[in-house]
Amino acid sequence: MVCPHSVPADMSPQPCANKCLMNKRSILSHPAIRLDDVHLNLGQGRAEVHVLRGITLAVEDGESVAVLGPSGSGKSSLLMVMAGLERPTGGDIAIAGTRLGGLDEDALAAFRGKHAGIVFQSFHLIPTMTALENVAIPLELAQAAGRLDGAGIWERAARELDSVGLKQRVSHYPAELSGGEQQRVALARALATRPAILFADEPTGNLDGATGKQIIDLLFAAHEDRGTTLVLVTHDEALAKRCGRIIRMADGHITSDSASKRTSRVAAAS
Ligand SMILES: Nc1ncnc2c1ncn2[C@@H]1O[C@H](COP(=O)(O)OP(=O)(O)OP(=O)(O)O)[C@@H](O)[C@H]1O
Ligand SMILES: [Mg+2]
Repeated sequence: MVCPHSVPADMSPQPCANKCLMNKRSILSHPAIRLDDVHLNLGQGRAEVHVLRGITLAVEDGESVAVLGPSGSGKSSLLMVMAGLERPTGGDIAIAGTRLGGLDEDALAAFRGKHAGIVFQSFHLIPTMTALENVAIPLELAQAAGRLDGAGIWERAARELDSVGLKQRVSHYPAELSGGEQQRVALARALATRPAILFADEPTGNLDGATGKQIIDLLFAAHEDRGTTLVLVTHDEALAKRCGRIIRMADGHITSDSASKRTSRVAAAS
């Protein structure tokens, strides 16, 4: 059951500010992601575009959700507002019950660092840092924020690289890695702090089929083994069917939102 009241905009679960009878556990049962009538306008004047036009949805903890839709329909923009990388023009977004609109920029960045891992089509690694250093970045930020003991940072970063099969590449710079290896570093970096939610925007868009499959298998391994909520933007219908739920977008709207056929068949058979 979901607490009907707004939750104070801080990072820790706590009893409802309106003193309703719901306790800490019920606060924890807020959806992982909730959007209420979210709008986003980008650009100015004649270039202004109403990119998201009233998106309402809830994603439960541990779900895997594919977002499909034609180019320009607003998929990346939806991901950006969900991940707190873009402020919506209207409406409300809450992650694990915390309303992002109530957070200033610093608090929002800290919140993102704690709850969200993000993987993009074009890996966004820092070229002057080795694979190990890239993966250590979010861990160092977590340490600076007092959320992590600094002692094990390098070991943890090395373990994450090992888990994506890059044990032998820790000292390589991005330019010394293949595209698939770079995306694996980006994935290790996104997962290093064990975020509750992983956002991925066409993570295989720049990779060949076989390499892309490796990345997707790693994404789903994180989702299945760690219980990470997964929101995956893709153009690939077959890949979308690996997710439990498929959201389709067109022109800034959600046009359909349903359990994927493959998942429903498995559920019906069990
Ligand atoms: N800064 C901006 N100013 C104006 N319009 C923008 C801006 N950024 C994006 N848009 C527009 O917003 C719309 C949605 O863009 P978005 O990147 O979310 O689409 P998408 O569904 O991810 O597309 P693709 O599949 O090509 O990645 C597009 O029409 C785009 O031109
Ligand atoms: Mg996009």
